[in-house]
Amino acid sequence: MKKLFAVLGDPIGHSMSPIMHNALLSYYEIDAHYLPFKVKTEDLSAAIKGLKAIGISGFNVTVPHKSSIIPFLDDVDPLALSIGAVNTVVNENGNLIGYNTDGLGFIKGLEPFITSFTDKKLLIIGAGGGARAIYFTLAKMKPLVVDIANRTINKAVELIEACPFDTTSKALSLEEAGQQLAEYDIVIQTTMIGMYPNISELPLSLENLRAQSLVCDIIYNPLETQFLKEAKQKDATIQNGIDMFVYQGALAFEKWTGIFPDVNRMKENVLRQLEA
Ligand code: ATR
Repeated sequence: MKKLFAVLGDPIGHSMSPIMHNALLSYYEIDAHYLPFKVKTEDLSAAIKGLKAIGISGFNVTVPHKSSIIPFLDDVDPLALSIGAVNTVVNENGNLIGYNTDGLGFIKGLEPFITSFTDKKLLIIGAGGGARAIYFTLAKMKPLVVDIANRTINKAVELIEACPFDTTSKALSLEEAGQQLAEYDIVIQTTMIGMYPNISELPLSLENLRAQSLVCDIIYNPLETQFLKEAKQKDATIQNGIDMFVYQGALAFEKWTGIFPDVNRMKENVLRQLEA
């Protein structure tokens, strides 16, 4: 019988996950479809029950349901539970199990640049859902320092206090982070600042950025945010959000099928779609 995979969110029309996963299913000759479903928050419980009843093989969850889905699942992996967000669900013998592949997807995307985090000082800009998944997953890698800068500093304090893993972290204002930017080996931008259509915005000044540092932005529209453009001018290595997007998808696909897919093919496919 044909298998079914899906992504649930609201809005969902912009999601590139169906294109990415259907291309993979076809390439690996898996008899299945991956469909987008727009689900309102008040319908989430009914939607999950329905998907379970029809025996869905697995699905992704996106904004705004990543946290609110947790009570409707049969079980949640400990990392996803500590992050408080699920982006991937697997049907394991009739039970819906939630995982979070966002943070690990981000870290896998850094593998060409970083082999170990234990001697690295990191700065995360932002304290929302994206920052949370990246921070908690990174904290497990035992970096030397991982500080959090946010417009609302209290949210950075709360994030640090909520982390279940030991870290050396402090909360900073965006201005403070800008002033001490030269301290960091890796700077990770997780806010929506600079995302289309507000493409000229910057979360903080890069004046003090250290040359040869690694600067990442989880945004991929535009492919090169103003933040990355200025980092490049400062001789930093830059990375946009495509790798995190592709790797979170690759890790989800592996959980569903047992196959870790060809990530370069996935990247080319996503870039083609973005250019189109
Ligand atoms: P997500 O779950 O996608 O990360 P979110 O929870 O809404 O989204 O978090 C968005 C992040 O972007 C937050 O860190 C937010 O800062 P606040 O906590 O102060 O709200 C940050 N952010 C959004 N717009 C911003 C702006 N114009 N200037 C500075 N920070 C901004």
